[in-house]
Amino acid sequence: MNPLYDILKTRLAIGPVPAAEVMALGLYHPEHGYYRRQTASWGFDGQDYYTALDLGPLLGQTLALRLEAAWVRLGRPNRFTALEPGAGRGWLGRDLLKSATGPFAEALVYVHLDDNPAARRAAEAALAPFLTAKRARFAAEADQLEPFVGAVLSNELFDALPAQPWRWDGEGWTREVLTSAGPEWQAAEPGEAGGWFASQTDGLEPGDGSIWCEAMPSLVHELAGPLEAGLFIAVDYGESADRLLAKGADLRRFKAHGVDGKWHEDLGRADLTADVDFTRLAFLLEQAGLSELSQVELSKWVRTHAPLEQWGADWMNLPTPERMQRTENLLQLTLPNKMGSRFRVLEGWKEKND
Ligand SMILES: C[S@@+](CC[C@H](N)C(=O)[O-])C[C@H]1O[C@@H](n2cnc3c(N)ncnc32)[C@H](O)[C@@H]1O
Repeated sequence: MNPLYDILKTRLAIGPVPAAEVMALGLYHPEHGYYRRQTASWGFDGQDYYTALDLGPLLGQTLALRLEAAWVRLGRPNRFTALEPGAGRGWLGRDLLKSATGPFAEALVYVHLDDNPAARRAAEAALAPFLTAKRARFAAEADQLEPFVGAVLSNELFDALPAQPWRWDGEGWTREVLTSAGPEWQAAEPGEAGGWFASQTDGLEPGDGSIWCEAMPSLVHELAGPLEAGLFIAVDYGESADRLLAKGADLRRFKAHGVDGKWHEDLGRADLTADVDFTRLAFLLEQAGLSELSQVELSKWVRTHAPLEQWGADWMNLPTPERMQRTENLLQLTLPNKMGSRFRVLEGWKEKND
């Protein structure tokens, strides 16, 4: 039996449960939530999904170059902290630390921030040599973060936050809820979400709608606040607010490397995600004191910042299986209709406040 359905049954006896609440239960119930369970099922070897990190080290290697450029711009400080919220298995940190070189590597300290217990165990293994060398450490979500100079980086953090789908029916807003009979759209007052959606379009059509992530402002505040100066960089699945509205953004369930809209099934045993509203993320970052905000497709970001010709030449010296893996990694990140065109990279800069 799935204990989350007992909790849900009690909750449904009171009334319909908004989809965002179901998502929060499925992902973050302290014991049975998908990201709070002691056993995990991500990655090619797991059952449900993989991220850019499963494809190879190129995302981490490109990121290392972006972070080194930020370190130079900051005047080569002795300590450059790279904080990764939603760090999962720590693979991005590992790839980043492995590819950093010279004085930048000496300044770089990677901080893994994620209360996911199964991922944390995997990260202890992935980061082992760097933890021993004190070039990496763990932080907990409840920790008060000390002010730091460096970068905040994330891969698929914001798409894992509970989010609520809304639809415009021509006369008013409806939200997706779970009832004892199944999922339904019910009229509701959207509050701040309604104002935001309306401000992002010239006119709402029936069927337009998007997702609203309640936790986004507080998380942006918590992460951007302690960053005294440096780069904020988020890699995630999503689009601009107007495009999400036009397509009627929804929640998705990833299960056994398949994707569907059955967000209320297999709670705690399937991954749930929502598109990230990049317009709102950029807006919130600006409010938090960041400037020079830009966002591009991941494929363009890689092609812009990675020295691909040089890498291609270097790969010629690798054993064939590794050379093929790097090439496949590059194709996945840069070819149309692959991961690189489905993901976006948002960058912002925080100037030191004198
Ligand atoms: C989709 S996974 C991505 C993991 C990893 N970045 C990767 O690409 O493989 C999302 C992760 O974000 C974590 N997470 C969710 N909310 C968080 C928060 N407020 N602070 C830190 N981590 C959070 C979850 O525990 C989960 O491990």
